[in-house]
Amino acid sequence: MHPVDFIEKKRDGGEHDADELREWINAYVEGKVHDYQMAAWLMAVYFRGMTPEETAGLTLAMAHSGEVLDLSGLGKTVDKHSSGGVGDKTTLVVAPILAAAGLVVAKMSGRGLAHTGGTIDKLESIPGWRAELSDEEFMRQAREVGLVIAGQSKNLAPADGKMYALRDVTGTVPSVPLIASSIMSKKLAAGAQIITLDVKVGRGAFMKSLEEARELAELMVQIGRHAGRDVRAVLSQMDQPLGRAVGNAIEVREAISTLKGEGPEDLEELSLALAEEALEAAGMDTSAAAEVWRDGRALAKLRAFIEAQGGDGRVVEDPEILELASDVFELKAEEEGVVSELDAYRVGIATLRLGGGRESKNAPIDHGVGVYLLKKIGDSVRPGEVLARVYHRGGRGLEEAAALLRSAYKLGREAEKPRLLLDVVA
Ligand code: URA
Repeated sequence: MHPVDFIEKKRDGGEHDADELREWINAYVEGKVHDYQMAAWLMAVYFRGMTPEETAGLTLAMAHSGEVLDLSGLGKTVDKHSSGGVGDKTTLVVAPILAAAGLVVAKMSGRGLAHTGGTIDKLESIPGWRAELSDEEFMRQAREVGLVIAGQSKNLAPADGKMYALRDVTGTVPSVPLIASSIMSKKLAAGAQIITLDVKVGRGAFMKSLEEARELAELMVQIGRHAGRDVRAVLSQMDQPLGRAVGNAIEVREAISTLKGEGPEDLEELSLALAEEALEAAGMDTSAAAEVWRDGRALAKLRAFIEAQGGDGRVVEDPEILELASDVFELKAEEEGVVSELDAYRVGIATLRLGGGRESKNAPIDHGVGVYLLKKIGDSVRPGEVLARVYHRGGRGLEEAAALLRSAYKLGREAEKPRLLLDVVA
């Protein structure tokens, strides 16, 4: 394997075969291919693309770059994954619902990527909660609690762990084959039989158009089916953030309120749709989702899960244990109108600038900063009314964040609430 030849092949529009891709990925995991070479190749893929065959070959190579878990002894196992958005805390709602309904949710999640948040970063705002589990711990928790979410430092799809962090800081995230292989390699390695995907579409998503999102969804469904898994994808709108909270601790707080029946409508709607898709794929009664949500079993499952991974389960009763930055800035409306746009991308970048995401690989993040959107599309606003509350740390990044948020809001005369659920690919 000559890394430069391999990079040049893609740079010049060539097609890799499965053997070559396996060799490349293994060499990268072993440290024989350097980050700068991988970054150059990722950029070549970004511009040149990949055929579905190449994407499938890359996915399998990444999935087999480490251990592949065998969950077959655990009953009906399910994994839920989002292609990435702003304010997207659905995993924290859907996973406990599914586990409470009797499925085993055993999944690997990522950290924030570019302007989007990651489930692991959010969960790490819970005091004591840890993402790094040994394979034994992962399996034991799946068996005993029915819900386990691990970070990517385990030996599952290690190639994706390294590539994900590199893509985040080299402008190579929004590429259909790279996103498909990243998501599906983790899903295949983590071993669940049922895979429910939430493919985001719009300004705050990596896929800006419905066509692109459908292409990604179909590719992932195809890769999963080929590997013998039951995969379904829900396509959901991400022009404006999901829910009202954007950040880490603040999103966990919102997920907990949602499980208590006090969450924002859009988050409830999407969570229910995803949970029902998974239950249907498992051949179960879909009404179980609403039932375990209403009667508190899902919330109790969230607590058991948090505690099993070392976290302070009291956050479920008292979400204020999750510390928010004490400096608060209120963004106020300057005129009257109806919110007609709320650009999720700008809100995501604003949160990043406050310190809620990473600007460079391995940089620490501040779990307490974030944004709470009091007004969303379709809401009426009077001059001087608060549009959004910004939790910041001593003014760090505030000026830029405030300007981004101001430009994220557009007021008009009237606006309808956008349709959230756009399609299902099965
Ligand atoms: N989520 C992932 O796991 N990978 C990506 O590349 C994008 C979103």
